[in-house]
Amino acid sequence: MSWLLVVAVLAGFALGPSAGTDHIVGANHGWNPNINYSLWSGNQTFYVGDLISFRYQKGTHNVFEVNETGYDNCTMAGVAGNWTSGKDFIPLPEARRYYFICGNGFCLQGMKVAITVHPLPHNATSKGSSTRGGTGAQEEAAAAALGARSAAWLATLAVAAVSAIC
Ligand SMILES: *[C@@H]1O[C@H](CO)[C@@H](O)[C@H](O)[C@H]1NC(C)=O
Ligand SMILES: *[C@@H]1O[C@H](CO)[C@@H](O)[C@H](O)[C@H]1NC(C)=O
Ligand SMILES: *[C@@H]1O[C@H](CO)[C@@H](O)[C@H](O)[C@H]1NC(C)=O
Ligand SMILES: *[C@@H]1O[C@H](CO)[C@@H](O)[C@H](O)[C@H]1NC(C)=O
Ligand SMILES: *[C@@H]1O[C@H](CO)[C@@H](O)[C@H](O)[C@H]1NC(C)=O
Ligand SMILES: *[C@@H]1O[C@H](CO)[C@@H](O)[C@H](O)[C@H]1NC(C)=O
Repeated sequence: MSWLLVVAVLAGFALGPSAGTDHIVGANHGWNPNINYSLWSGNQTFYVGDLISFRYQKGTHNVFEVNETGYDNCTMAGVAGNWTSGKDFIPLPEARRYYFICGNGFCLQGMKVAITVHPLPHNATSKGSSTRGGTGAQEEAAAAALGARSAAWLATLAVAAVSAIC
């Protein structure tokens, strides 16, 4: 139960102000038949906290998360979720493989995409990622304070320079 809470909090951070990249499936081709989505996904790097989004005509297509068996065979094996809005933003809170297919037959016409989500780079592991939001804010505050101090120092210098001239 508490583990679920941690996941929810992590997902909350991921969707917060420091939210990652939104990967639009198929880019300007969207989510449609007869597109090689392996080529698309091979050209993307996904990190924990990113989003994958599907754009398609509502009612014509949809999105199901399945497992590898479901992906390979275009079946509902291991179904873990479904989306139907036509503009679906799906969070990627875990570092693992994700499999998405269209659930109404178009999977057989290529509407399937498999992605690998990587852990956050630069040492943002277990401890780091849970405090990612806080650390970022602290760093920003520190940078702002430094900036303010530099500005004050420059102002002092300027006053000193003006005093020297006059
Ligand atoms: C997509 O393109 C890759 C690389 O060219 C190829 O290996 C794969 O078979 C293609 N997939 C489909 C479904 O055509
Ligand atoms: C991969 O991305 C690069 C850089 O954005 C782009 O030039 C290239 O066309 C893309 N390749 C595919 C297969 O989408
Ligand atoms: C589904 O795909 C897997 C490979 O991932 C294969 O081993 C299995 O036989 C397939 N099942 C069906 C029912 O086609
Ligand atoms: C996918 O889920 C189905 C049904 O729950 C299961 O039988 C199958 O072993 C799973 N495949 C993988 C690769 O986990
Ligand atoms: C789609 O998801 C909803 C909950 O989001 C669930 O109630 C429904 O059973 C799912 N449909 C299928 C076909 O899995
Ligand atoms: C990550 O941490 C390890 C030690 O825990 C350190 O050796 C390494 O240089 C760090 N990498 C970066 C990119 O900060």
